[in-house]
Amino acid sequence: MNQRETLCVKDDHLVIGGCDAVSLAAEFGTPLYVMDEAFIRGMCRIYRESLAEYGPYRVLYASKAFCCKGIYRIVEEEGLGADVVSGGELYTALSAGMPADSIYFHGNNKTVEELEMAVENGVHAVVLDCLDEIGLLDHVADSLDKEVGVLVRVNPGVEAHTHHYIQTAKPDSKFGFNLAAGLAEEAVGAVLKTQHLRLLGLHAHIGSQIFDKKPFVLALHKLTDFMKEIREKFGVDCEELNLGGGFGIWYSEEDRKIPASGYAEYTRALAEALDEDVREKKLKRPVLVIEPGRSIVGEAGVTLYTVGAVKEIPGIRKYVSVDGGMFDNPRFALYQAKYSAALANRMNDKAEETVTIAGKCCESGDMLAVDVRLPKAERGDTLAVFSTGAYNYSMASNYNRNAVPPVVLVCDGRADLLVKPQSYEDLVRNDVIPARLQKVKR
Ligand SMILES: Cc1ncc(COP(=O)(O)O)c(C=O)c1O
Repeated sequence: MNQRETLCVKDDHLVIGGCDAVSLAAEFGTPLYVMDEAFIRGMCRIYRESLAEYGPYRVLYASKAFCCKGIYRIVEEEGLGADVVSGGELYTALSAGMPADSIYFHGNNKTVEELEMAVENGVHAVVLDCLDEIGLLDHVADSLDKEVGVLVRVNPGVEAHTHHYIQTAKPDSKFGFNLAAGLAEEAVGAVLKTQHLRLLGLHAHIGSQIFDKKPFVLALHKLTDFMKEIREKFGVDCEELNLGGGFGIWYSEEDRKIPASGYAEYTRALAEALDEDVREKKLKRPVLVIEPGRSIVGEAGVTLYTVGAVKEIPGIRKYVSVDGGMFDNPRFALYQAKYSAALANRMNDKAEETVTIAGKCCESGDMLAVDVRLPKAERGDTLAVFSTGAYNYSMASNYNRNAVPPVVLVCDGRADLLVKPQSYEDLVRNDVIPARLQKVKR
């Protein structure tokens, strides 16, 4: 695990935010998502404080990483805005009291209803993603008699992966307007011809789980070049430059362990490159916007499970099955994501075997972690999987009609529910048996 003050071992047990993990499992049941509030707040502060050393900035929390009402209260208290990608995320943010003018609305295929909801509520910006959306949004704004701030999402042709990045002339992506093909320029021209859309600036998001600073800086250079072109061709300055999220976190021994303060290196690199470009290219300095998700909540999360069946296939593999699985964490099933784990009730026991942690779903690919080192696990042990705060709860499902586990927020030894557990009654709440299928009482 990536040990820190709020994730440590005490009396042989794992302790998160001052709470004993075994006691949390006993009180709330398992599976259980546990979120460390101090970690989340610390990350928000690192991003804000490091950017505040430079010019105007804005930090948005990328809701898709972990979305529920409580997280918006925390990020708003820490001075962040939010990006949302659906009517559901927008509704959650607004119902948690997030100010509409701190919200950016993304998506490669927003519905008309979602655009109406965004405009009616007065979000700060809609991030445009395709040409016909420009006319559609202008029409929505006209019918509601509103002006709407927009960013044009640019695909800068920088494709980044965890440990390397490549530059491609024609990246194949469903997101954004391709810069090299001239589509981004066409989009800007189209926005400037509308009646109700106000061009605020540009947006790019080059990928996720990226450790290298270079691809971010490269994308920034491409966008400032484009800002210069926009100025020359259309006589317009971009007020905002949004470089998305994507900063990498620690999941397993394959990843770098970055202390919270280390994330300031990304933001400083971006802010310095921007200031240099602005000077060189004689641009008006835009507000620098970032929208990290995973790095704010990912390492804050630990999921607790109870070990059930343990099965060894001699010479092949040992499976340790737990009471969760792809319904609370689909990331292994989706893209073979790596995780690390520990026995939260026996933290000082030596890891003596290599096992695969299997979920309880009827799906062979339902694994949580493959080939992890653990002490000899037994039925009833509390198993902790680390770095599950991002893209776990938000990607959870009711597959096999398993209930989505509750989420607790821990801080200074107290634990509060952020999301209540689902009951079996919740699982059938929206089911309807048509009249013709009703059981006839005889
Ligand atoms: C447009 C946009 N912004 C921000 C993010 C957040 O990325 P991350 O959680 O890796 O920081 C994503 C993730 O997919 C994204 O698509």
